[in-house]
Amino acid sequence: MFQKEQQLIEDKIKEYCEANDIALAELKWQAIPFSGEWGFSTSFFQTAANEAKRGKGNKLPTPQKAQEIAEQVKGQLGGAAGISRIEAVKGYLNVYFKTSEYANRVVNEVLINGAEFGRGAAKSETVMVEYAQPNTHHSFHIGHARNTILGEVLARLVEFAGYKTIRASYPGDLGLGVVTVMWMYDKFYKGQEPAGVHERGQWLLKLYVEANQLLEKKENETPEETSQREAYETERRELYRRYDAGDPYARELWRTTREWSLEELREILHMLDVKMDVWFYESEADEPSKAIVEELIAKGIADDERPQGGAVIVKIDEKLGLTKEKYRTNVILRRDGTTLYLTKDLALAKEKFEKYHVDRSIYVVDVRQSLHLQQAFAILKLWGFPQAEKCFHLGYGFVSLPEGAMSSRKGRVVLFKEVYDEAIRRVLAVEAEKSVDIPAEEREKIAAQIGLGALAYSMLSVDNNKDIVFNIEEALSFDGRTGPYIQNAHVRANSILKKAGVTSDKLQGTSYEYELTKQEIELIEQMSRFPQKVQQAAEEYRPLVMAMYAYDLANAFHSFYHAVPVLQAEDEKVKNARLRLVAAAKRVVANALRLLDIQAPDAM
Ligand code: ARG
Repeated sequence: MFQKEQQLIEDKIKEYCEANDIALAELKWQAIPFSGEWGFSTSFFQTAANEAKRGKGNKLPTPQKAQEIAEQVKGQLGGAAGISRIEAVKGYLNVYFKTSEYANRVVNEVLINGAEFGRGAAKSETVMVEYAQPNTHHSFHIGHARNTILGEVLARLVEFAGYKTIRASYPGDLGLGVVTVMWMYDKFYKGQEPAGVHERGQWLLKLYVEANQLLEKKENETPEETSQREAYETERRELYRRYDAGDPYARELWRTTREWSLEELREILHMLDVKMDVWFYESEADEPSKAIVEELIAKGIADDERPQGGAVIVKIDEKLGLTKEKYRTNVILRRDGTTLYLTKDLALAKEKFEKYHVDRSIYVVDVRQSLHLQQAFAILKLWGFPQAEKCFHLGYGFVSLPEGAMSSRKGRVVLFKEVYDEAIRRVLAVEAEKSVDIPAEEREKIAAQIGLGALAYSMLSVDNNKDIVFNIEEALSFDGRTGPYIQNAHVRANSILKKAGVTSDKLQGTSYEYELTKQEIELIEQMSRFPQKVQQAAEEYRPLVMAMYAYDLANAFHSFYHAVPVLQAEDEKVKNARLRLVAAAKRVVANALRLLDIQAPDAM
């Protein structure tokens, strides 16, 4: 925000250090929180250490040397517009601003940049984020929602931080679970599928549960039951075999049912405002992964034990020269020539690197797949991909229900669409009482925004490593640390501006040359932190950083709203300055919400 001043000062520091043969380290600037004034600072510890390494000058300990340099540098700096004073303290150079100048600057910066406020400088790296990759032939449950929301928010953060970003999905559309549903449909339900994208997706889950009941061995089975079950099992296996062999009937059955799942997935992504750039599928990684097995054998990375009646394996630990067990030994091709989940992940990664020129690859996947992904990354490294080091697994904890773990097999899941519908019902019920002045169709739209906001925030405000026990009451609560609390800051800001009948550009030339209240100071400070929070959340892969920030910002705004008169301000100048502050706050809240994939309504 103070790049110009920082640059000016930096230039002078560089000039001085060059003239005096001081090995200046890169200068990192940090904001100084308000303590009567705002400012920014940089330290000279690294430079002092550089000097010591070169064995130059007096043999002062680093802190003293840093302080000496800070003082020398300070002596060279004249004033600059808006700067109130400069001091050299404990190896730091602190530059302070006139409070009114600083406040004005923050507010201007926000309003001039608008939706772009906080965007990081463009960077050359391309980052791929893979998420929203459930298996097909089930329905989308609340655990998938956690994955999708986390992934989307991470993608938005990385993109806004300045990286070229590619969003990718990788549904699992192969395997026994898939065939089980195909078999059930073909045998008992052909032609009976319900209309409606969600209904059909949810119905597939019902078939899956029913099929598992039929195929599961029960206690005290009668001999007839046993032979019935075994006959079903034989049919399922036979269908799997036919599918594998490329039998047209089985393939068509697969394509049709798979498409029902994917249609529902696409619809849900649309509801969550997620736009995928690339769709990978497990089924499409299968063939190429077989060629990779051959390549890995040829390169001596994989061992072919098929001649001895074994499989193709990679002794990862041994090949990496590790003495302790870490990645273990893994099969990458079964004796019967079929590939594994791991094999397909190798093909997927190759495609990501070679076709999409990805420099960094982030996998948003359930934490229970951690070892699997580490193994895949380790094999990529053995294989020689430089990007292997830049593969990152963003794991997230399990979403369970108060009554225990979710299980698609048993049909014990909370579906995303159910929660979504319930959320809207609840918001509408509240609005019917409170917001009588909002027209009905507008209310529907707002209800969806608030319901989804509550749901998304309940997933984002928990650290990704932690498990979530999903409780619909808590997820849809509107008090305390919730999405609607943050959305409400946006609504309140909007209503003040509406009442005043102003738009922010009508408030040019306002100034903050009056005594700011502590709420105004806090609000300005929170706004000024946004750009740095964007970078931090993106670099650390932590949507939680942005979720907490958005809450702190909203909180600062609500405190301001309660304590500081705007429309009733004592004089016209103060009123205009505060209106402009409100306009800026509304903007930053909206930008933060957007990064959290939460809509910012104007009324609620
Ligand atoms: N479809 C998998 C599942 O539902 C997740 C895929 C994760 N991504 C990957 N590249 N392995 O468990």
